[in-house]
Amino acid sequence: MIEADSLTKSFGATKALAGVSFSVPAGSILGMLGPNGAGKTTAVRILTTLAIPDDGQAKVAGHDVVAEAAAVRRSIGVTAQDATIDEALTGRQNLVMVGELSGLKRKAAKSRAAELLTRFDLLEAADRVTKGYSGGMRRRLDLAASLVTRPSVLFLDEPTTGLDPTSRLLMWQVIRGLVSEGTTILLTTQYLEEADELADRIVVIDHGTVIAEGTAAELKRQIGGARLSVTLAEPHPRAVAALTGLVDGDVQVSQDGRRLQAAVRSTSGLGTTVVRALDANGVVVDDVEVRPPSLDDVFFSLTGHGALDLEGETCDLQVLEGVS
Ligand SMILES: Nc1ncnc2c1ncn2[C@@H]1O[C@H](COP(=O)(O)OP(=O)(O)OP(=O)(O)O)[C@@H](O)[C@H]1O
Ligand SMILES: [Mg+2]
Repeated sequence: MIEADSLTKSFGATKALAGVSFSVPAGSILGMLGPNGAGKTTAVRILTTLAIPDDGQAKVAGHDVVAEAAAVRRSIGVTAQDATIDEALTGRQNLVMVGELSGLKRKAAKSRAAELLTRFDLLEAADRVTKGYSGGMRRRLDLAASLVTRPSVLFLDEPTTGLDPTSRLLMWQVIRGLVSEGTTILLTTQYLEEADELADRIVVIDHGTVIAEGTAAELKRQIGGARLSVTLAEPHPRAVAALTGLVDGDVQVSQDGRRLQAAVRSTSGLGTTVVRALDANGVVVDDVEVRPPSLDDVFFSLTGHGALDLEGETCDLQVLEGVS
C-alpha cells in the first residue's frame, strides 16, 4: 500500500532524505523510528503529497504521489506532528467541519462525528471548545479527524509524543484497533518501545537514510543476546577488567564511571558470577541487571549514539576498547 523508492529531499545544504526506500504491505503497520531531525516528517510529507521529492518515486494505494496526487489524497488520512484542530470550535464541530470539507452531507458528517467521538472516548467533552482539551484529547481528536473519510492508508507522525503514559496506552489501543480492521499504517516515532509494541516491521532512520530494517525481534537479534548492566557504588579502576572475561565484546562505561553495560550471551547465573568477580577485585556493586536488548541498544550499536541523544539518556556512554 505504501512504496517508497530512493526518495531524496534537501533543504539548502541539509539533506533531509538521502535515498530512503521501504514498503508497507496492506493491513500492516510500519514503524519509522528515528531521533529528532532524522527525516521522518519529510518522508511523511512526501508520501502524503505535501512535499515533492528531489529524486526517487513513491506510490500510495497504487498511485504515484507526484503524478496522481489527488488520487493519493482520496485514499489517505494524515495525523500531522502538530495538531491541526481549530481551537475555537468544539470537538464535534471540528469533526463535522472535516466531514463537510471532504464532501459528506451535513447529516452524514454529523453521524460520522458522533461515531468517532464515541470511539475515541471524547463524547463527554464533545461539545466543549477544544482550546481546553488536554494533550491526549487533542491527539485523539486529531486522529479522529483523519479517520472521517475512512481512509485505507493512515499516516501518523509521532502520535504519542508528549502524552502521559495513560493517554499513550489509550492511543496504542486505538491504533491496534485500526490495524485489526485492515487499515495500513505508517507511524513515525522516537519511542523505541512504541515501535516495538505496535509495528509489524520497523525501519530505523538516521540522518535521512535507513540504517536498519526488520521486525523488532530481528533488530534485537542483530545485537545478540541479553544486556548486562552494572551500577557501581563508586567508579573503580579494575571494574572493566573484571567484567571483560564475562561478557561479549566491549564494556561501555558511563561518563561518571558508575554504570557499565555490555552484551552477554549466556545469562544463567550471570548476576552472581558478575558480583563475585567484581567483589574479588574490591569493586562495590549497587545493582546488577540482566535484560533482553531494547531497541535503544539496537540503535546504539547501529549508530554509536543513543536514540535519545537530546535527552542525554545514552549519549554519555563511551566505548572503551581493550582496557585492562
Ligand atoms: N521546510 C524545511 N526547511 C528547512 N529545513 C527543513 C525543513 N523541513 C525539514 N528540514 C530539515 O530536514 C531535516 C529532517 O527534518 P524532519 O522534520 O523530516 O525530521 P524528523 O525526523 O521529523 O524530526 P522530529 O523527530 O524532530 O520531528 C532536519 O535537519 C530539518 O531541520
Ligand atoms: Mg517530525
